[in-house]
Amino acid sequence: MLLSPVYPSPMHDFGYDVTDHTAIDPVYGTLADFDRLVRRADELGLRVVLDFIPNHTSDRHSWFVRGRKLGDEYRDWYHWRDPAPDGGPPNNWVSAFGGPAWTWDEHSGQYYLHSFLPSMPDLNWRHPPVAAAMLDVARFWLDRGVAGLRVDCATSIGKDPLLRDNPPAEPGALAQHRPLGEYDNQRHLHDAGHPDTHRHYRELRRLLDHYPGALSLGEVHEPDHQVWAGYYGQDLDEIHLPFAFGLLEAGADLDALRRAVLETTQAIPASGWPCWVAGSHDERRLASRVGSDRARLVLLALLTLRGTPVLYYGDELGMPDADVLEILDPWGRYRPDLGRDPARAPMRWQHGPGAGFTTGGVRPWLPFSEVEPVSAQAADPASTLHLVRTLADARAAAPELRLGEQRFLDTEPGVLAYSRVLPGKAESVVVINGTAAPVVVGLPGGAEWTVVARTRESVSGISGSYATVGPVEGVLLRHRVDRMGE
Ligand code: GLC
Repeated sequence: MLLSPVYPSPMHDFGYDVTDHTAIDPVYGTLADFDRLVRRADELGLRVVLDFIPNHTSDRHSWFVRGRKLGDEYRDWYHWRDPAPDGGPPNNWVSAFGGPAWTWDEHSGQYYLHSFLPSMPDLNWRHPPVAAAMLDVARFWLDRGVAGLRVDCATSIGKDPLLRDNPPAEPGALAQHRPLGEYDNQRHLHDAGHPDTHRHYRELRRLLDHYPGALSLGEVHEPDHQVWAGYYGQDLDEIHLPFAFGLLEAGADLDALRRAVLETTQAIPASGWPCWVAGSHDERRLASRVGSDRARLVLLALLTLRGTPVLYYGDELGMPDADVLEILDPWGRYRPDLGRDPARAPMRWQHGPGAGFTTGGVRPWLPFSEVEPVSAQAADPASTLHLVRTLADARAAAPELRLGEQRFLDTEPGVLAYSRVLPGKAESVVVINGTAAPVVVGLPGGAEWTVVARTRESVSGISGSYATVGPVEGVLLRHRVDRMGE
């Protein structure tokens, strides 16, 4: 269970602007409440993972408040620079949320750097006390029993030591998978991803190694697959699970999804373990991005590909974006199409006021989205929740889905098919047909196969060693014989 930031914050970026890394914001409760949550989760067989935000703090953090004063020992904790000769910002870097990445500080007569909002100054990881302080933060939570950390903006801490200008981007190139406006005009060569970053992740890993089972997940946005895979570390000694965003970035295009899965899988070091992400609080909802039928195809891939699936709450219901009238998200205020509020609607547990998320009469920050709640979907075998539960049960029951090798099967364009196999023991096959016509796929081994899950009722069926899978349908099949021998 991965929590978004719960630390004290003025909430300019909904918790990513931290004022105290080792406390809980009163809107969520107290540290004692947090300890209770961790204990209770443990009893239920769940482990709590926290968001760890190394790149920036709030401008109200005591480190920055002190660093604002010239000559203070905290000055070097952030990036302060004199103006360029023309009096403007020291270099051409831009903020992901719009505008220059530098803000003029009247009081001390210098500019400071922020990759996001002006109220979120970037920490200077070249100053050793910063790395030490952030490791202390990690230690604080690990000592309290958290199972791991999601490293936010993992590449951003690596800045060019000379803070050189970014070169212009190739025409038409995108910094990520969707247009980000002004941010796309530059190649982000110098404002993120400097190779020095790796030593910090090796240090974090050494710390995690003292806590049995503790893990790091990494928000690593990096279009070059080889560079991305570098965050596993040369000796698998950095981030345990850099997020693979391929399922999310491919959108509704099954060929793009297939390519992303193949390329990511190839880039991951031999004994590295993939971590697939199909949705997040930073993107439009899966069901709104690709439509509800195709969302089920992506969920099938998410839960059956080799690796750890990361499921964004609500996606298991096929929850679409909510209609949000009042924009709260700073990114949405810069560019409405990038606004993240619609994807952050509260969970719908049941019918009625509050939807089981809050008590009736209490208005959540954001409106609910239009979706059948958990209680209704749980009782409906045709629901997305039912499909996700079937897939989760299948994963628990079939060791090859968790541990088996992955072999891609030859298929026509628009179809992704793979087998998960523990040689000599058991085999599952997944066929995902994104085309508008039924497809016939040859099954390995000629054994007797049975359908474990399908994303919808259609013409699909098995005949001998062939499976017919309907248009925009996915199936999970398994050897019947091997089922007995588990
Ligand atoms: C990450 C978070 C996002 C946040 C940004 C700045 O990308 O996922 O929600 O706005 O970092 O901290």
